[in-house]
This record gives sequence, structure tokens and C-alpha cells, in this order.
Amino acid sequence: MSLLSLQQLFFVLAIPLSIVFLLLLRNKGSYSTKTCLPPSPPKIPIIGNLHQLGTLPHRSLQAMAHKLGPIMLLQLGQVPALVVSSVDMAREIMKTQDHIFASRPSLKVPRTLLYDGRDVAFAPYGEYWRQARKVSVLHLLSPKMVQSYELIREEEVAFMIEAVSRSCSSGTVMNMSEVLNSLAKNIASRTILGKCPREEEWYNIIHVVIHESSKMMGAFYVGDYFPSLSWLSRLTGLEARVNKVFKKVDEFLDAIIDDHISRSSHDEHKTEDFVDILLSLEKETNRNVSFGRENIKAIVEDLFGAGTESTFVVMEWILADLIRNPEARKRLKDEIRGIVGSKPMVKAEDLNKMKYLKAVIKESMRFHPPGPFLVPRESIEDAKITGYVIPRGARIFVNVWAIQRDPEIWEAPEDFRPERFMDSSIDFKGHDFQLIPFGAGRRICPGIGFAVPVIEIAIANLMHHFDWKLPDGMKEEDMDMTEAFGLTMRKKSDLQLLATPCL
Ligand code: HEM
Repeated sequence: MSLLSLQQLFFVLAIPLSIVFLLLLRNKGSYSTKTCLPPSPPKIPIIGNLHQLGTLPHRSLQAMAHKLGPIMLLQLGQVPALVVSSVDMAREIMKTQDHIFASRPSLKVPRTLLYDGRDVAFAPYGEYWRQARKVSVLHLLSPKMVQSYELIREEEVAFMIEAVSRSCSSGTVMNMSEVLNSLAKNIASRTILGKCPREEEWYNIIHVVIHESSKMMGAFYVGDYFPSLSWLSRLTGLEARVNKVFKKVDEFLDAIIDDHISRSSHDEHKTEDFVDILLSLEKETNRNVSFGRENIKAIVEDLFGAGTESTFVVMEWILADLIRNPEARKRLKDEIRGIVGSKPMVKAEDLNKMKYLKAVIKESMRFHPPGPFLVPRESIEDAKITGYVIPRGARIFVNVWAIQRDPEIWEAPEDFRPERFMDSSIDFKGHDFQLIPFGAGRRICPGIGFAVPVIEIAIANLMHHFDWKLPDGMKEEDMDMTEAFGLTMRKKSDLQLLATPCL
């Protein structure tokens, strides 16, 4: 979900009142006052409850839910928004009535950058989404495909370890956020785009283009909350900026596709990658959904973006949590040493024995889900939840962040305690609604099996090879753990660390 900056909010407020009042009056008829709607906080004219979101909406809405309960209906500009904050309500949305809540709202920036909803993540619920998701799972994200990327993961992690080792010998502070971001991008480039950024001129393009587009995805677009005022984004210049980024992304994806076409025509024995497979589907005419060039570009861009950003953000939080919690770090290092000994690298086959590593990953994803509200959903018809009427077309926000810190469910939820998962069957695969960093139901993240082995092998090797310290004698408790809200919720400041070799 995109976040409002105060500046933008004031800009919206500065709009001539007369126009907006007229629009509000026109919209008012969409609910019957007799229906039993979920509780709402008091709202102010024009912006409704937008001003109450603050800079960290997951926290503001958690506080609001303490007063109003786990199901609330807010008015965000002209858009009704349902916010749920309990396990039972999340289950209702993503299991019991998943078929009603499995669509996505049409948001301007993703719609522009992702070829009018021809991707997977922002596509409206329906046959196209089903087919695009199926193709992505079958040809990129299935357990068999993920297994086939093992060598790529190991090579890229080895490159990362070498880079950190070089900084050790010169005693330089490493920006580990950049290191982990590059790792996620390099693995995604090789597996999704069939490109190794290190070897080619693609490196800068991939980094710059993707960085710009993922930053844009989090931008506030007035029309997403005030549909009748979309024209304002033309005045603010946002629309022009989005179009400019889209042009770059489009040229980049065209170049990737052209390169695949020319390589296939020159080398008949070349092994097919994901882009080749999508191109071969373009020629199939026997499906009820066709995959043309625009569709291929949308799917590739979507998977690349979804695959890199969240994986990187999770690794950044895990490393930060481990630095802040020396006891957990020691226990993890002991576990790894007990399994791997002084072997130079932790390998894929070692990971399954690492129970504490898995517990650390779950705990960090409980503590900092990278999508605090998942990806917003939209109801496709009127629904009823515990007697309340949820209007069709409401935007749905599941406050995963609040659920995963709910003291009714978690003991000491504000403490980082991986031990809580050691003798527990709770998993994040969408069955246990108290831990849903990947979502659940029809729209659950299809990339869990792709992301987890990357995170496991990266963190295990970073712990196996190095001891870690904060620079300038900084203490763990002084670390800045502030969140920066956006489409994915990162640490606000980069993670700067000093590493010393320990093998
Ligand atoms: C730790 C890393 C990741 C996290 C935490 C994460 C989280 C999520 C979440 C919360 C959603 C929305 C689920 C919902 O609405 O219920 C999602 C959707 C999605 N994710 Fe991930 N994700 C991760 C990695 C990946 C990877 C590696 C890929 C692909 C390479 C990927 C591809 C997608 C796609 C395509 C969707 C849209 C699914 C749909 O709408 O049907 N994700 N992810």
C-alpha cells in the first residue's frame, strides 16, 4: 500500500472545497445508512480517515483496533477500506470468504508499470490471473525449478562472501543492505531474466531500472483515493514521472526479450530459461488466454520485482535482528558450526538440519513482515463478516503486522525470541493465520519456495564465515531499527557492519 506524505496530504486538502464537496455528495449514496457496517473511527470531511494513518499506518491502525476492535471500516478519501487485525478476521478474509476478497484494486502506478494489470500480483481476480499465476509457478517457482537453481544460489552466495572478506582485510565498514540487495538481484537476474549481471552491460540497467520502478510503486497517487481527482497527478508531475520510468522499464524488457530471441535463433541447443518458455507460449493458440509480448513483459517485471525486493528486505531484517540479539546470534553460529564444522561453505544439504536457523527466519518475519498489510485486496461483491456488511469494491487491508504482535496469541510479542518456534508446528505457508508474512488463500505468495532457500543459505554462510560488530563502538541497543513504510517495509537506515573472518 502506498503511503501518504504529509505534504501530499496537505496538497489534497488544498483542493478547492467546492469541487470536493460536490463529489462527496455524489458518492454518498453508495451505502445504505441502515446496513450494519463495521465500526469506524470519526472522520473529517473530504479526506475521511486518511490523516489518521500517520507515517507508519500499521502502527496507527493497530492502536485504532485496540479501541474499535479487529474489524473496522475506514474512509480513505472516497474509498471505503476494511482493516482487519485478528487471526479470526484474517481467516475469514483469506479462507472462509477468500473467493470474495481475492481481487486487487486497480492502482494507477502498478497499472501503468505492469502493462494494465497483465502481471500476476496486481491482476484482478479472474481467468487471466489464474493462467498467469499457473505459468509462473510451473515454469519458475515449482519445487523442481527451485531445485534446479541450487548452483546459482551457491555461486552467488560465494561471490557475496568473497566481497565481504575483501572488506574485512581492509577493515572497511560494509553496507550490508547493499550487499544483500545485490545478492537478491543477482539471483533473480540469473533465474528469471536468464542474465548474469556481473558479466554484462546489464548490471547498471537492472539495478537502476528496477530500483526506480519499485520506488515508484510506493508513490502516493491522488486518484487511488479520490478517483474523481486523478487529474491532479498530472499537475503534480507524478504521472509524467511514472510514464518516464515505464518507458525505461519497457525498453529494458524489450531488450531482454530481443536478446532471448536472437540467442535462440543462433543456438539451437541453448537450455531454455523462463523468458524462453514464456516466448514459446506466445506461439500457442490453443489456450483461452493469450500471452503476447506485453503479457510476457508484465509477468517478468512482476516476478523480478516481487522476487528481489521482499527477499532482500527479509534478509536485511534478519541480519539486523541477529546483530541486536547476541545470544540468538551465538546460538545460531553454534548450530551452524556443529553441523558444518570448518567446511568452507554451508551447502544446501546442510540447511535442513538447521532448526534454529529456520526458527530465526520465522521469528524475524513475525517481527517485521515485509508487507505489513500484504498486497491490498478488493471485495468483488457485498459480503458479511460477523454480521457486518462489507460493501462491494471495498479495499481490504489485513494488518499482518498487528496480528503477528498480538499479545493474545504471542507470549512477549515485542521480544525477539526464535526459541518460540523450536518446538512449534506453526509455519508461514498460509495455514496458521497467526503467522502470515506471505499471505494466505488464493493470493498467497507463490514465491515462498523460491525465497526461503536463498534466505537460508545467505544467512547461514554470513554467520558461518564472520563475526559481526557495529561500527564506531556502537552498542546493540543503539541500533536504529526504525521502519520505513512503503510497498515493502524496509529498515529506514542501511545496515552498516564490520565483519571479521572466523573460519
Ligand atoms: C521473503 C520473500 C517474500 C515475501 C515476504 C513475500 C510476500 C508476499 C506477500 C505478502 C504477497 C501478497 C499475498 C496476499 O495478498 O495474500 C505476495 C504475493 C506475491 N509474491 Fe511474494 N514474497 C516473497 C518472495 C517472492 C518471490 C521470490 C517471488 C517470485 C520470484 C514472489 C512473487 C509473488 C507474486 C507473483 C505474488 C502475487 C500473487 C498473486 O497475487 O496471486 N514473492 N508475496
